[in-house]
Amino acid sequence: MSLLIKGGTVVNADKSQRSDVYCADGLIQAIGENLDVPLGTEVVDAGEALVIPGGIDPHTHMELPFMGTVTADDFMSGPSAGLAGGTTMIIDFVIPSPEQSLLEAWGTWMANAAKAPSDYSFHVAVTWWSDQVKEEMGVLTREHGVNSFKHFMAYKGAIMLDDEMLLNSFDRCQELGAMATVHAENGEIIYYLQKKLLAMGITGPEGHVQSRPPEVEGEAARRVITVAGAVNAPLYVVHCSCKQALDAVAEARANGQAVYGEVLAQHLVIDESTHYLTDFTQAAAHVMSPPFRSKEHRDALWGGLQAGTLQTTATDHCAFCAPQKALGKDDFSLMPNGCGGIEDRMSILWDRGVKTGMLTPNDFVRVTSQAAAEIFNVYPRKGSISVGADADITVWDPNANRTVSAKTHHSKMDFNLYEGETVTGLARATISQGKQVWDGKELRVEKGVGRYIPRPTYSKVFERVKTYGKLNAPRRVERV
Ligand code: URP
Ligand code: ZN
Ligand code: ZN
Repeated sequence: MSLLIKGGTVVNADKSQRSDVYCADGLIQAIGENLDVPLGTEVVDAGEALVIPGGIDPHTHMELPFMGTVTADDFMSGPSAGLAGGTTMIIDFVIPSPEQSLLEAWGTWMANAAKAPSDYSFHVAVTWWSDQVKEEMGVLTREHGVNSFKHFMAYKGAIMLDDEMLLNSFDRCQELGAMATVHAENGEIIYYLQKKLLAMGITGPEGHVQSRPPEVEGEAARRVITVAGAVNAPLYVVHCSCKQALDAVAEARANGQAVYGEVLAQHLVIDESTHYLTDFTQAAAHVMSPPFRSKEHRDALWGGLQAGTLQTTATDHCAFCAPQKALGKDDFSLMPNGCGGIEDRMSILWDRGVKTGMLTPNDFVRVTSQAAAEIFNVYPRKGSISVGADADITVWDPNANRTVSAKTHHSKMDFNLYEGETVTGLARATISQGKQVWDGKELRVEKGVGRYIPRPTYSKVFERVKTYGKLNAPRRVERV
């Protein structure tokens, strides 16, 4: 099947140009004006809109068993919501239970994701350490197209790793040419503060934010950067939410270390006060880790995105409905951590970032798809409008408005963090594998057509490791 996107401005991370885009066999075949296309080609009229690479959300959790329940969005509903918001690919997380085989867990996630309507890939979490884990990391990189491994420094007693495990795993990542990614929060301090707050009778969602102050995130970010530096492993810090974490990433980058930072759309716009809402259901719906922060931190995060200290934007889409949040009714530490947002990430970034003049349209493409594609080594197949790339394309209307609501969103969540807000900038059409699956009003998704996208090791980020490695090369001294 063939499709022509006519009349728009093609926007990539590096440049913009007026062009039509012709797609066939799932790929972009030609870009230019007055293209010769076969009779019967479907035409999508882009009008005055922008034609951008489909968004990549590099941090989602579909069908995740977590904190005594399973996330509400599965690999059909979550990515469908993404498509309605202009996101055409997710990188989700395989999270094995401690002691579980990484390969076995990867198989489970692959089976779950077989229903996906759009392309996907997987980071694999290292939740324990042994020779078996080390060996399976090798198999995953060599045989299954995994090039990134996730590490949690929080969630004590469940999936948290100590520094020794981080060192072992990062060393292995470096050896394999894979990216180490990390949730940086000091799990010991959080655990201590949780107990203390509960003993004081603070059991509600406000205890969640009070047990996870920015310093706790900043300490972990600094420590994990040191750990990665010790074994010369490139590091990607997920969901940086505060100035302390941002400063740690900025300092490391200024020192030449290969450290990358992700920010969630939610952390850029939602305030800490939401954790203190008096309506329990509302406050509970905001419980995620790290928690939301004050304006001072949000301003710093926007600056980090502008400066390139933070390269990617994600959502950490981890949907829990009210009955699931109620598991923590009497104890905030038992409340499933996670919020949604996959459908709204790109609109929020446009409305609050581009419309306000903080980001250019090219920056918008960089932070919503191109940088993630490059860091996780699927560029230019994904994250670019170029001949030969996958025809994952969003026709982006920069001037149209929509009012966000859980009543109209496509996620199975019963809550939307941006409820009632009117945002400018939306996906007028979404094209996945060369087929229009969203027309601004209706989804035409097909279960199971999404493909697993293998990602080769040794992405471009390893170039920077070479330079940094020279600075830290071990030296033997010959003594007489
Ligand atoms: O609260 C969050 N972020 N839940 C999902 C798991 C994680 O920490 O990424
Ligand atoms: Zn996390
Ligand atoms: Zn997450």
